[in-house]
Amino acid sequence: MDSKQWDERYSRAEYEWTTEPNQFVAAELAGLPPGRGLDLAAGEGRNAVWLAERGWKMTAVDFSRVGLEKGRRLSEARGVTVDWVVADLASYSPPGAFDLVLIAYLQVEPALRTTVLRRAAAALAGGGTVFIVGHDLSNLTEGVGGPQDPERLYTPEAITADLPGLSVLRAGRVRRTVNRDDGPAVAIDTLVRATRPA
Ligand SMILES: C[S@@+](CC[C@H](N)C(=O)[O-])C[C@H]1O[C@@H](n2cnc3c(N)ncnc32)[C@H](O)[C@@H]1O
Repeated sequence: MDSKQWDERYSRAEYEWTTEPNQFVAAELAGLPPGRGLDLAAGEGRNAVWLAERGWKMTAVDFSRVGLEKGRRLSEARGVTVDWVVADLASYSPPGAFDLVLIAYLQVEPALRTTVLRRAAAALAGGGTVFIVGHDLSNLTEGVGGPQDPERLYTPEAITADLPGLSVLRAGRVRRTVNRDDGPAVAIDTLVRATRPA
């Protein structure tokens, strides 16, 4: 999907994935001491705003202006500040060093994914954390949701291979329940957490 298609998808008043953070973002990052954070492919800002509420100085990047505008409204309603940056990740270079880089459900072609992950790794300050969660390849046979193009789906091995120089703290598959018209179903995500040695 290009930025226009994402703008269209975000043009409804409702938030696509609610205004609450992704459950794995909340569970894994709640205990991190706040610092400078970067959310790449931030969408409507649910994760960036949640982190800002916990004291993080957040920059949120996405190529959907409509998505980020909803993020801005959410941050205003919650009384926090986020730096919203409309940019294509194909050409965006993170400015400076971050204590946290978050990438949630950026399901793009492998070459762009590699570029973004390597830039994310390079943008980490010493001791900084990169946290990545996305639809796993195994959804094609065992789970639901996400793109059906295998190239755009994650595996823990493919994600960690694009994080050179980092220490991998966690890399695996996690399951979440999603409510569908025909009842609850299971979606499988790749989850990777890594740090740059201090
Ligand atoms: C599934 S949404 C996830 C949004 C958010 N991370 C979340 O978890 O709520 C994927 C996002 O990736 C963004 N995206 C896809 N390709 C992009 C690119 N090349 N540059 C910037 N953003 C991109 C889309 O605009 C969309 O907001």
